Amino acid sequence: MTDLKAELLEVALEAAARAGAFLRDGRPADLGVAATKTSAVDVVTEMDIASEKLITDFLAERRPDDGVLGEEGASSEGTSGVQWVIDPIDGTVNYLYGRPDWSVSIAARKDGETLIGVVAAPMRGETYRAVLGEGAHVNDRPTHARVAPPFAQALVGTGFGYLETRRAHQADVVRELVPRVRDIRRGGSAAIDLCDVALGRLDAYYERGLNPWDYAAGDLIAREAGALTGGRPGEPVSPELTIAAPPGLFEPLQNWLEELGAWHD
Ligand code: IPD
Ligand code: CA
Repeated sequence: MTDLKAELLEVALEAAARAGAFLRDGRPADLGVAATKTSAVDVVTEMDIASEKLITDFLAERRPDDGVLGEEGASSEGTSGVQWVIDPIDGTVNYLYGRPDWSVSIAARKDGETLIGVVAAPMRGETYRAVLGEGAHVNDRPTHARVAPPFAQALVGTGFGYLETRRAHQADVVRELVPRVRDIRRGGSAAIDLCDVALGRLDAYYERGLNPWDYAAGDLIAREAGALTGGRPGEPVSPELTIAAPPGLFEPLQNWLEELGAWHD
């Protein structure tokens, strides 16, 4: 591993561990909604904001020349060419309701390439990580995606955006998929969903409308675990569409999603 990757990994793991412990141990019993974003159900809590500040303060101390992009507004260019992409709580609605599947997602990119991805899932007692070209790990164990099952036996995760029109169409797509696959799961944290493909806890995952902070780390972790990731045919993962699945399942799923128009609202 290069010195740069090793340093970025160490910093990402430490930042995610600190934020994860803060969120797990500091969740107020009466946690409420601090603000809404794209719709009344797209919520931010005081803990999202505090977690992002904890992470960006730590990065400013350890890597002062790097840029940052965070879900709750952190945005700076930096001069080193390294950019941190941060979701301080992915799965905010789960966190608000005291459900366990929420995560802290931190990726480091350079020259448009994700070098490091770390997703901490404190309530699972697990941290997922990947380094470009070096494989994926859960805690300290290597992890691999499942071998592709027949399409009809695939357990497929997905998620829904916060806008009514988008959700309505996403529900139409799911209605078409349900009778064709083993089952559907809606976990509530896109970063964990992508890692669940890397862990073999889902066969596949797809969603329209994610932001870079939702998928940057999980995309690398899924790829380093042997899954394919992408968007519409020939396109990389993007806010338009994110798909992750092992070879053999990825292609038919991508074709179905294309046919069902999963990439538009
Ligand atoms: C959301 C979660 C959810 C996904 C949404 C995301 P947030 O992120 O990842 O699973 O379905 O599209 O916006 O708002 O909890 O950080
Ligand atoms: Ca998110």
